[in-house]
Amino acid sequence: MKLVIGNLKMNLVSVMERERYFKALKEEMTRNKFSETGIVLCPPFVHLEAFAKNLGKKVRLGAQDMFSEDKGSYTGEISPLMLKNFGGEYVILGHSERRRYFAEKNEEINLKIISALKNGLKPILCVGETRQEKEEHQTLRVITKQLREALRNISRTKAEQIVIAYEPVWAVGTDVVPTSHEIMEAKVLIVKILAELFERKYAEKVKIVYGGSVSAKTVRQVAVDSKMDGVLVGRESLAPREFLKIAKLINE
Ligand code: PGA
Repeated sequence: MKLVIGNLKMNLVSVMERERYFKALKEEMTRNKFSETGIVLCPPFVHLEAFAKNLGKKVRLGAQDMFSEDKGSYTGEISPLMLKNFGGEYVILGHSERRRYFAEKNEEINLKIISALKNGLKPILCVGETRQEKEEHQTLRVITKQLREALRNISRTKAEQIVIAYEPVWAVGTDVVPTSHEIMEAKVLIVKILAELFERKYAEKVKIVYGGSVSAKTVRQVAVDSKMDGVLVGRESLAPREFLKIAKLINE
């Protein structure tokens, strides 16, 4: 079963919008006779409980970020324990928008991954190069550094809980996607680094997905031809019909 992760980002700004989303998604699921699909939805924190109540039996849930401490005086933060207790199973960490707008660094992402694993959450670690880094042929160097630093001090027995999302920053929200060859190249590198970090036997259990302008039109190229274990979908996850189309195509 392929993973189809929806990153809803900072959307669904009212209860009404959320209810409309639930309705559309459920209708599409019934229409398509969806059962076991490997779908993971990552709504904003405030919606997590409602998603669990309304969709908890049909999809799995995750968050878009978290803090590395379990509880305490950290104004404005959300802890892994909260995610776990409100229905979360996965958590996206190190997304390029967090790195870019909130200056998240690999060291901090590493602490979050360790904490997520300790609390029984499955981290989805995003890595990928910017347009400039790509043009300067720095892709391999950048991904290597992101993986080595973000996955420091993690026991190999935890490796199978981790998902790596290869998300070239220049492909996020742009409608430009890499070729399946470029994605496969990144995957080969990711597998190699993971084998260095965890030993091959354990590294092989890590799921590697692709993210960045995934749609029903691009999914074959970015995930099927390039033999990825799934996709991380931004914009199209807000359109239930398109999102389920992606889930269907990837599992064909
Ligand atoms: P996109 O976003 O599908 O809108 O490009 C992907 C992501 O940010 O994870």
